[in-house]
Amino acid sequence: MNISVVGSGYVGLTTALMFCELGYHVICVDKDTQKLETLRKGFIPIYEPGLEDLLKKYLAKGTIKFTKVIGKAVEEADVIYITVGTPSTFEGSSDLTFVKEVAQSIGHYQNAYKIVVNKSTVPVGTGEKVKEWIIDSQKHSFPVDIVSNPEFLGEGTALYDAMHPDRIIIGSDSASAATIIKNLFHKIKCPKLITNLRTAELVKYTANAFLAMKISFINEISRLCDAYGVDVNDVSLGIGKDQRIGPAFLKAGIGWGGSCFPKDIASLIYMTKEVNLEPKILKAVQDVNTEQISYYINQLEHRAEGVKGKTISILGVAFKPDTDDIREAPAIKVINMLQEKGATVKVYDPIALKHVQQLWTDVLFCSSVEEALRESDCLFLLTEWQEFLQLDWHQIYPLMRTPLIIDGRNILDYKSLQETGFSYYGVGRVSSR
Ligand code: UGA
Repeated sequence: MNISVVGSGYVGLTTALMFCELGYHVICVDKDTQKLETLRKGFIPIYEPGLEDLLKKYLAKGTIKFTKVIGKAVEEADVIYITVGTPSTFEGSSDLTFVKEVAQSIGHYQNAYKIVVNKSTVPVGTGEKVKEWIIDSQKHSFPVDIVSNPEFLGEGTALYDAMHPDRIIIGSDSASAATIIKNLFHKIKCPKLITNLRTAELVKYTANAFLAMKISFINEISRLCDAYGVDVNDVSLGIGKDQRIGPAFLKAGIGWGGSCFPKDIASLIYMTKEVNLEPKILKAVQDVNTEQISYYINQLEHRAEGVKGKTISILGVAFKPDTDDIREAPAIKVINMLQEKGATVKVYDPIALKHVQQLWTDVLFCSSVEEALRESDCLFLLTEWQEFLQLDWHQIYPLMRTPLIIDGRNILDYKSLQETGFSYYGVGRVSSR
């Protein structure tokens, strides 16, 4: 069974390397010549733990290949995965330009029966459109089946998530195609759910929306905790022990960002409105997330007695640890808001700084935590990188002008920080009163 993967971003590369691990030969396609060169040399252009080692291993073994020529990848494959981007449009819908381009190329170069699998996150009903686009572009008539096999990979843990999924969803209106795709994963032990095409497409959005809802929910509760002097981390622990609720995605903080939740929730809201329904919970999930940043900034202003003329040090710009992805990262909004309010902003991140350096000319980018905190009036932690959890706070204390810590991830041990002399604020922590 030969597999082609069209689109060599983080989902495409992880998918391709997962299939190599499962013993298949994979051809990866991308339009970006420079990226292809980098990949052929064994380097991964994004920061994603584990991928580079596997890439080197399978390049050496000859079971992964990279090409710009989609025709070759279509002709040689039995199964073609589409893993291209589906960015948000201005109104919140998903832009399917790249998916359509790939579908048309598949039709154009089709030389036999193919199974085309959508792994890109696409609005409900897109699988049917993909089939139309393929058939409309065929030079000769060949059968084609479409499958939706959504991804549930988290950035930073993509490879592990691909190899150890909680479930695999395979949606198709063709029972035989669904079975072929299901069998590709026979070495992975987990529930495999076969659905129709549209159901699989909606499962993907619903999963992300539900996870974002859990975070927004606990963030709303965290404000209540602030008001009543309750520790939200204990509330999360208390409710998370209930098996019907579960402990995951109940960490209160600055809110969710990234390339998936914001885009997917906007797209689901759009889909809901398209069929004249009202996205009440989805809208609230979005609103609470936006407000959480303002809530934090208000707390900071209150505790620092205003930020105008003050130096605020941001630790972490990536939207979460173990990735260099800064898309929709809360840090970007925080930095903009602090600058508007007249603060001087210093920033440090162990990996992601290179992606934000071109965003501002008047932000001070630092090459170490110490440099970022020297003469600072406030440390604002926005990404829970391991490095920040291991800091020697006794050494940090004398560096800062004002020993104020705003913990945007509720991760630091406030008792020992307070003993060291810091003022600490984390959302909904008893320390904050
Ligand atoms: C998310 C989903 O978790 C994946 O299952 C999905 O495949 C992926 O989107 C996608 O659609 O491609 P990801 O965006 O990598 O993965 O990141 P998450 O770990 O879900 O975190 C999202 C945001 O929520 C981050 O900003 C994180 O800091 C925040 N978060 C997460 C919290 O604020 N609290 C939590 O308890 C958990």
